[in-house]
Amino acid sequence: MDLWPAYQAACLAIAVIPPVLSTDVLAVLALVSEAKVNQKPREPDPNPRPPAIRVARWQARNEYFERTTQRPRTAPIAETEETKWARLPTPDMDLHFPYEVVTTRLILARRHASEALELKALTEANLDHLRAWMAWAMDEPSPLDVVEARLVQFEKDFNNGVQWAYGIRLKTDHRLIGAVGVHPRIGPTGVEIGYWLAANACGNGFATEVVKALTHLALHQPAIDHVQIWCDPNNIRSIGIPKRLGYSHVATLVNDTVTPLGAPRDTMIWQLNRADYDNARRNQICTNT
Ligand SMILES: CC(C)(COP(=O)(O)OP(=O)(O)OC[C@H]1O[C@@H](n2cnc3c(N)ncnc32)[C@H](O)[C@@H]1OP(=O)(O)O)[C@@H](O)C(=O)NCCC(=O)NCCS
Repeated sequence: MDLWPAYQAACLAIAVIPPVLSTDVLAVLALVSEAKVNQKPREPDPNPRPPAIRVARWQARNEYFERTTQRPRTAPIAETEETKWARLPTPDMDLHFPYEVVTTRLILARRHASEALELKALTEANLDHLRAWMAWAMDEPSPLDVVEARLVQFEKDFNNGVQWAYGIRLKTDHRLIGAVGVHPRIGPTGVEIGYWLAANACGNGFATEVVKALTHLALHQPAIDHVQIWCDPNNIRSIGIPKRLGYSHVATLVNDTVTPLGAPRDTMIWQLNRADYDNARRNQICTNT
């Protein structure tokens, strides 16, 4: 048998095929890397799935709300977790809060993108202080453009009556020292107030002063008959604020949420009703005269 042609074919294959293969491999690699270069940055998801913690909180709020009111809900219970979270703010509440609230020592100013740098610096300087109690602080620090986008959203929410977020500033030098928000997410006739201060601003009664002013503004609106503050039962400094302002402890939700580190925890609900607030003010006026 003549093996010469087979030998020649084998030599040809050894000489030609590897370079062809390697060229193909290079071409494929080039295509992949080009595809990577041309890949668009991922757009933010317009309907992000709510973190489980928020869903749990929402459910607890609704269960509490179902137990404590006879009024019909403004919206039916939603089917999915996503729509539940989307429905969190109570819609169509006719509420109005001023762009600026001036108290004895402070100015509450509606959130604005121009304060992004200042807010970022304040948050970063207080990470440990905030992370002890506030889950959002675990995701900080955020890039400046993210902080800006968040502030733009807060401003839109304010203008559209979704929620009212303020930066807390000292009257003396206009320095940002914290934040406070009014959130219509506890049913059709109530709002919740949330707050934080920089560590070095604590111990002066600033948070109490701010919450007092916003409680007053909320309870003077016909649509509102109660204001609530929700907090971790271990957050003694936070609990001091509703206590000082005459709120009552109306419920403790058991294991309804988690700490910023993910451990299960309860939520205390403190509430001030308009009737009690009016009576307290009337009594105060009577005593003073
Ligand atoms: C919650 C938080 C805002 C409370 O701060 P705070 O400084 O204790 O609250 P206030 O600003 O109302 O100050 C009250 C303190 O100032 C004192 N004080 C001084 N002058 C005062 C005044 N004119 N009026 C009232 N209190 C005054 C009070 O005695 C009190 O101190 P005390 O607790 O030692 O008795 C703050 O600890 C914080 O930001 N924590 C991290 C975020 C957080 O937990 N947010 C709440 C989530 S629910």
